[in-house]
Amino acid sequence: MPTIKFAPTFLTEEAITITMPSGASLLDAAVEAGVPMGDACGGNCGCSTCHVFVVAGLDSLSDMEDDEDDILGKADDVRMESRLGCQAIVGDIDLVVEISRESQQSFINEHPEYRDRADEIK
Ligand code: FES
Repeated sequence: MPTIKFAPTFLTEEAITITMPSGASLLDAAVEAGVPMGDACGGNCGCSTCHVFVVAGLDSLSDMEDDEDDILGKADDVRMESRLGCQAIVGDIDLVVEISRESQQSFINEHPEYRDRADEIK
């Protein structure tokens, strides 16, 4: 099973590495790891709040479908390594993932108890 290493965020000072089965989404992995990834639409490819940067292992993820590409186009700071966490399905290769600032901010919006930490977003 591949490992997924999440870079530090406002909520997780250190990188967190988790093992997930192939077929899980990056959003599934973030929830399991306690990493703050936004999911305003509930993982239905209807927002861009789960926007992440896959800095290692990008090619091992499921292919990007047209609807993900369309939604990702509405995100901030889109890069070659951008994916939507709810649509990117883990394969067999280890991954390194950064949660976008937009996604961390969305997580705070969805969890007001963290509102006073918004200036710590990495
Ligand atoms: S959670 Fe909305 S597109 Fe991923």
